[in-house]
Amino acid sequence: MRAADHVPVLLDETVDLLQPRAGGTYVDGTVGGGGHAEAILERSSPDGRLLGLDLDPEALDRAAERLRRFGDRVTLVHESFADLERVVRWNGFAPADGILLDLGLSSFQLEHPKRGFGFRVEAPLDMRFNPLQQTPTARDLVNKLDARELADLLRRYGEEPLAKPIARAIVTRRQRRPIETTAELARIVESVAGRARGKIHPATRTFQALRIAVNRELDALERALPQAIEVLGPGGRLAVISFHSLEDRIVKRFFVDQAATCVCPPGLPVCVCGRKPTIRILTRRAVRPTPREVAENPRSRSAILRCAERLAG
Ligand SMILES: C[S@@+](CC[C@H](N)C(=O)[O-])C[C@H]1O[C@@H](n2cnc3c(N)ncnc32)[C@H](O)[C@@H]1O
Repeated sequence: MRAADHVPVLLDETVDLLQPRAGGTYVDGTVGGGGHAEAILERSSPDGRLLGLDLDPEALDRAAERLRRFGDRVTLVHESFADLERVVRWNGFAPADGILLDLGLSSFQLEHPKRGFGFRVEAPLDMRFNPLQQTPTARDLVNKLDARELADLLRRYGEEPLAKPIARAIVTRRQRRPIETTAELARIVESVAGRARGKIHPATRTFQALRIAVNRELDALERALPQAIEVLGPGGRLAVISFHSLEDRIVKRFFVDQAATCVCPPGLPVCVCGRKPTIRILTRRAVRPTPREVAENPRSRSAILRCAERLAG
């Protein structure tokens, strides 16, 4: 599969909000196959620069290939957006004019025969965005956590209503032998939740929960957002595309908090907190894909885009 096989989500909407311009400096915290990055570089021709981060070395290789024609306008680094401020400053991209976080995983990763992100492809249960790091894999979590911890994980990160029975089924099954592959795990979930009927496979939430836990995704997002505001210049914009309510809630709350003018308790006659907003929210209502985009790219169906602009001061 080639880089072009990952179709960037909400592409026009994201680029319209980021408003790339010649001479600008842009950071794509999740460069993936380079789809959004390519559009940002095109719109900021002839000399806008882009710093692309990704935890996945294979994604960086694909992005490098796709973005080669932009030459030294592009810098790609194998880093996490959880360390955004350090990475952006170190590479000379602060103050930035625009930052993008397109969360989650790419189609390339989902369909990769060895990465273990999806239940439609039989693969070892890995799910690490960065397979070079010696951190626990999905296999480790599935085979080592006790039933309570597993149920908690499935409930918290997958919002899985059948968390308890699925966790129990996992623990029972692994007593015979360890659970090694995506297909084995999907079958265990099916044994509890039934076989796929509608559009959503019953193992979707279990796989999402494990992936979020393996990569500590919510933690990375919570760390990245304030750092993004720190490195944006006045008028610089931050766009975040989330794919489920857990992520979107974090982004929405952060934006509302940063845009707040006064956080005094209600009832005080005058403001005593002296709070100044750091951003202006540009998407009062989150931007969603059009029915046409969803029809053309079903992966986009749960995408939620929010954008804010850094205020001066
Ligand atoms: C949805 S894809 C991005 C696709 C990209 N916008 C495009 O148009 O091709 C998300 C990417 O973020 C990467 N990623 C996930 N968590 C990350 C993190 N904490 N730091 C850097 N990259 C991360 C994944 O490896 C994946 O390649």
